[in-house]
Parts: sequence; structure tokens; C-alpha cells
Amino acid sequence: MTDIKVHARRRARLAREMGGGVAVVPTAPERTRNRDAHYPYRFDSYFYYLTGFREPESVLVVLGGDAAKSILFCRERDAEREIWDGHRYGPDGAREKFGFDEAFSIARLDERMSELLANQDMLWCRLGADSAWDARVVGWINDVRAQARTGIRAPREIKDVCALLDEMRLIKDAAEIGVMRRAAGISALAHRRAMRAARPGRAEYEIEAEILHEFRRHGAQAPAYTPIVAGGSRSCILHYVENDGVLHDGDLLLIDAGCEFDGYASDVTRTFPVSGRFGGPQKQVYELVLEAQKAALAAVRPGSEWSAPHEAAVAVLARGLIDLGLLTGSLEQAIETEAYKKFFMHRTGHWLGLDVHDAGEYKRDGKWRVLEPGMIFTVEPGCYVRAGDGVPGPFAGIGVRIEDDVLVTESGCEILTADAPKQVAEIEELVRSERG
Ligand code: GLY
Ligand code: MN
Ligand code: MN
Repeated sequence: MTDIKVHARRRARLAREMGGGVAVVPTAPERTRNRDAHYPYRFDSYFYYLTGFREPESVLVVLGGDAAKSILFCRERDAEREIWDGHRYGPDGAREKFGFDEAFSIARLDERMSELLANQDMLWCRLGADSAWDARVVGWINDVRAQARTGIRAPREIKDVCALLDEMRLIKDAAEIGVMRRAAGISALAHRRAMRAARPGRAEYEIEAEILHEFRRHGAQAPAYTPIVAGGSRSCILHYVENDGVLHDGDLLLIDAGCEFDGYASDVTRTFPVSGRFGGPQKQVYELVLEAQKAALAAVRPGSEWSAPHEAAVAVLARGLIDLGLLTGSLEQAIETEAYKKFFMHRTGHWLGLDVHDAGEYKRDGKWRVLEPGMIFTVEPGCYVRAGDGVPGPFAGIGVRIEDDVLVTESGCEILTADAPKQVAEIEELVRSERG
């Protein structure tokens, strides 16, 4: 578990950046799947970033400015419930273990919020994510307003606490980088395992099972998103998650799967031939996507604009699509008219962190952000040639994506997922390594 001082430092920074007022950050609710079965519990990313606390029914309150203080509301100890569900810290245990200034029972939240908001100018919260929560926040403000005749003033300004937290989350600290290296490393191992396990006749879900096995056996708590294991022409379906097709000789297999480790996501895609040998057109498309990815990676360094890797990938892909006869006209036309989007319709990456599509703005004042050390994001160009619509037969049904997770460093970037092979020769060797 991450050192609790890391979370305390983040709370202190939030308090400084708030300048004053009161911030309220709840964790995620538990959700029922059907009748008595629940979805696996996952804490809220903002809450976890500031606390490291994983229990449901918890709310963090931070007082900003000179009176900086952090207060946790959480479940009480409960001998009966703990027989069924396991240990709870309770307010005293949580305060001691996680370093809060104060902690109270969650049952006292409404009463304490009316007191904490009295005579504060500003409430920092997250509105619009959960209407029941929004109504509760408005209820506290009305409770304070109701005390107006006793001279108490209610907050007049409500600000989005996520605006501050998103900026903090965008630049990863040393603790986060350590955890994300681990998550990325586990995912790379899982992709290696999938390459060794795939062969004609196996079902996609068998390969999915190998991946999930590798995640869990290294201590990753969950997949960071539903894995995509797409054989043959299913590789052209961007969000294919049924994973119930059968792999055939001659198929490519596109796998987009990343684990979540201690709250942090990894997000990795590899594409490889089930037989262990790329066919001619498959290899042409694969090498093109790999070249596009390398061009994008070469553009990742401090001072580059966020859009630079995408533009580099688009330039390579558009040129290659023309060379392969999949697009006609000039390179300039292909880029200007966005004709390449028929084959590459998503962007080249996204911020990565506690959420797979992580917090943080991509533009500031109308301009793409400039990359800074500590930013982590994916670089994931692809090419999806769906059958029909004038596509030459040999290319029909080929879908390729290559996705790595990168950390911007002082001098360039570190590829966190480098242990997942992507060179043609490396892949072919690994896929064939366990065949008789
Ligand atoms: N796996 C989700 C994505 O690549 O964005
Ligand atoms: Mn991604
Ligand atoms: Mn992905």
C-alpha cells in the first residue's frame, strides 16, 4: 500500500490551492447487480487519490486556506457486520491509520456539514455525477440558509473541486509512477502469456482467461476495463467484448487488455497472428501501424504539444494507406479531408491514471496542452479495414492496433509497457514458442 503521507501531502496541496472554503469528496456507492449480488466494489478515483481509503460509505471533507484540516466520515465498527463482511476501520482507526485530523461516523455527515459550512464563502464539490448526492449537497446549503436569522451565512459560491484535482492528477507523483510501472509490467506479462497460448481452434474467451489469470496471479485486483479479445474480422469492431469467437488459422488476434493495480490502470493492445506467421497483407498493415506508433512515440517529450503524437501517427498512416492502395489522392488531401478516418477513426491516445481515460484537460485556453514530465498517457494508433466499400479483398477484415503506456520524462519518454513484444520477428517467435 502507498505510504499514507503521500495522500496527506495531496490533501495539504488541495487545501492550499482552494485558498479557503470547504471541499467535499465522497467515495463511490456500492451497486447491486441483481437481487443480492453486487458489482465488485470500486472506490471513487478522486476520493482514493486524496485518502488511500478503500471502504464504501465514506466522505472526505477538506477545509482550505489557513484553517487547513482534513476530516473523514466513514462507517462505524460493527461486530455483527464484520462477521459477514470483514474488518472496518471505524472513525478512530481510520484517523490513526490514514492520518486525518478528525474522523466521524458517516451517520453524522448531514449534521456536521451544516456546521462546517456555516459562514464559509465557498463550497468545493463535484456536481452532476450523481443526482442523489447533488440533492444532499443542496440540502446542507439550505440547512445553513435556514439559520440566517441567527446571523449565520451560507456559502455563496459553489466551485468544481475536480478542476483542482484534475490538474493534480494529470502530473503523476513518484508513488503513482511506481504503481503504474507495476500495473504496466503485469499487463505486459499477460500479453506475452496470451501470445504463447493462442492457436487455431481455441476460443477468444480461453485467451481472455489466460490474461485474467496473469493479472490476478501478480496481485492486480481487476481488469482496468473489459478486455477486448478479437480474432479475425472482429478486430475491426472497436469495442468488441463478447470474446466468444473461435480462432482460425490465418486470423490476426487483437487483444486490448490492461489490469488495475492498487487503483491505477494500464491499457495495452497487441495484435498478432494466431498461426505464428503474419500473412502478406497482414504484415503490410501491421508494419504500417508499427511505423505510425514509432513516429508518435518519437514525438513524446517535454515541450511537445499533446496533438504532436497524433499528428505524427496520422501522417504515417495516411501515406501508408495511399501506398497500399486503400486511399487515393495526395497525402495532403488525405489529411485535409480526413479520408484516413475511414481506417483510423479514433485518436492516438488519452491520459492514463486512476481511470483508464484519466482526468485532465487536453486543451487550455483553446490550445493543445504542452507535455510535461510526469504525464502518463497511451499511444495507440490503429488501422481497421472493414470489408466492403471498395476495399481490396486481401486487406478486408484486417484490424490492427498497437497500444503502449508512456511516461513523459525530463528528456523524452519511458515506455512502461515495453515488455510486451511488438516487433514482427519477436511476436512470431513468441507465438510459436510453445507449439509442438
Ligand atoms: N481500452 C480502452 C482504450 O484503449 O482506450
Ligand atoms: Mn487506450
Ligand atoms: Mn486500450
